[in-house]
This record gives sequence, C-alpha cells and structure tokens, in this order.
Amino acid sequence: MSSPAVAIQLSDAEMRLLQTIVYQERGMYFDARRTHCLRDRLQKRLRECRMESFYSYYRLLLSPGGRQELMNLLEDLTINETSFFRNKAQLELFHKHILDDIIRAKQQESNFQLRIWSAGCSTGQEPYTIAMLVADALAYHQLRMPSRPDALWPKPLVPPPWTVEIPASDINYTVLRAGQEGTYNEHHMSSVDYAYRLRYFDKVGERYAVKKAIKELVHFDFHNLETEFLPQSNDVIFCRNVMMYFDEAEQRRLVEKFYRCLTPGGYLLVGHAESLLGLTDKFTMVYRNSGTAYKRIEVSQ
Ligand SMILES: C[S@@+](CC[C@H](N)C(=O)[O-])C[C@H]1O[C@@H](n2cnc3c(N)ncnc32)[C@H](O)[C@@H]1O
Repeated sequence: MSSPAVAIQLSDAEMRLLQTIVYQERGMYFDARRTHCLRDRLQKRLRECRMESFYSYYRLLLSPGGRQELMNLLEDLTINETSFFRNKAQLELFHKHILDDIIRAKQQESNFQLRIWSAGCSTGQEPYTIAMLVADALAYHQLRMPSRPDALWPKPLVPPPWTVEIPASDINYTVLRAGQEGTYNEHHMSSVDYAYRLRYFDKVGERYAVKKAIKELVHFDFHNLETEFLPQSNDVIFCRNVMMYFDEAEQRRLVEKFYRCLTPGGYLLVGHAESLLGLTDKFTMVYRNSGTAYKRIEVSQ
C-alpha cells in the first residue's frame, strides 16, 4: 500500500518568492484569501517534479531549462470554470439592448461588421454563447426589415451583408484546444435549452458538437491580457471572471487597454462579482433587470 504524500514545508520567504514569479509572469496575485490555493498547487507541482524543497523548485523555475515547468505551474493555477449562458441577466441586457443598439447604429452608417471579443474565454462556452445570441439578434433584425427579400436558401446564419467576428482568447493552451474542438458533454450542456441545442449543435455519440456555421464565427487565439498586443476594434468586450484574479494596479491597466480596444461607444462586460467602480471614469454603467455592462464614454477634443 502506498503511503499518503507528505506535505513539504513551505516557508513564508519561499511563498513570497513564488508569489512574485507568478505575479510577474501573469499578473495574478494570490493574496491572503487565496494563498491556500497557491500552496496546494505548488505542493502538487513539487511532487510531480520529484523535488524536495521549494527553494530548489524556485531555482528551477528561474533557470533556462525550467521554462516548461513554469508554464505547467501557470496552467495549474488558472481557474477555468465557465458555462454556457452564464449570468443570464447580463446576457439578456447584451441580447435585447446592447446588440439591438449596436446593430441599429451600424445599419444607419452602412457598416455591417460586428466584432465581439471574449477575453479569457476558457473552454469556449462564452464565445459560443455570444455567437448564438448574435446569430439570433441578426435573424430578428432581418425579420424587421421588410425591404430586404430573403432570397438565399438555405438561410445563412449571418445574413448578408453582415459579417461577424468573435475573437476568443486565453493564456491556457489546454482550454484553447478544447474550445477549438467545440464538443461538450451532457453536464456542460445543462444550461443550454432545447431550442438552442436543436438549432446550434449536432449530437455526436454522447456529446454535442457546435455546428460548423457557429464555429466559423469564433477564432481562438493565445493572448496574455498583461501584454499590449490585444485584439483591436471590438464593438463589445466580454472579460468576465478574469480580472478578479489581478491586483488593483493590474486591473486599472487592463481597463485602460480595454478602453483602447473598443470602438467608440463600445461596451465592456465584466463578471457578476467584478466592477469598474474606482478603477476608471472612462465608462458609464448600464443597468437593466439585474444585468450590468459598461459603455465607453467619448471624450470630446
Ligand atoms: C474563470 S475563467 C472565466 C471564463 C469565462 N470568461 C466565463 O466567465 O465563464 C477565467 C479564464 O481567464 C483566463 N486567464 C487568466 N489570466 C489570464 C491572462 N492574464 N490573460 C488571458 N487569460 C487569462 C484563464 O486561463 C481562464 O480560462
């Protein structure tokens, strides 16, 4: 019988060194409320590397040969929890008001391009939810335009002349691969009602595969939100349940970057437990039936 793994002692000084590496690499700060989380993951990595002290593990992470292990640790530390149609009140605001507002404004300017970025997309449920809602909103918009005959058959998911792009980014390659694959089990699908399952998924064995036409709207890519090279010209940015892992200085920098990554009058949607309060005065809050979003304020020259 194998004996239970013995936890190796982690001193406060070692903890600070390791906290600093994680912060420098990913901007994730494990404060007092979450050090137990960091401690558990570090114990696991130490066992997997068969090392006997945290200081030698720290030295490994700093060495040129330790880069892969640093990536393994960072992947273990990211929290990837997500679901389809997460935060329904906010999605209702997005679907019924924000999209409607953007589609009408674009129609008037004869600009038929929509671009909505899912920043910190995890395994794809968020960007695919966005794609389904945008497809529905455009179909509904088309219905209200009697002047435009429905000539094409079968009806395309995105009615011309509209084009839709949904960049979906994360720092974790494992979740990006799962998103790209786009197949989900019954448990993942519990928040997807039957009308959506029928319209936008194919049943493949025990799993549900996102239909090709929806998949084609979503483009998965690696982006670290700490860097400056981020997707530009977005009408809406979803960055939900990501900022909460950053410290306040990093959150401020990120919100400033999001401002620049949005088109004028664009919207930023953050998680249920997150807020821009005290971080910026460049956005105004939009609130309806418990759903919130932030609209970019245009500063006159
Ligand atoms: C809790 S999940 C949220 C997923 C989705 N946005 C939602 O609300 O359902 C957080 C995601 O943010 C990603 N993430 C964390 N730090 C990041 C960073 N610096 N740059 C990009 N993505 C990051 C994680 O890998 C993880 O997949």
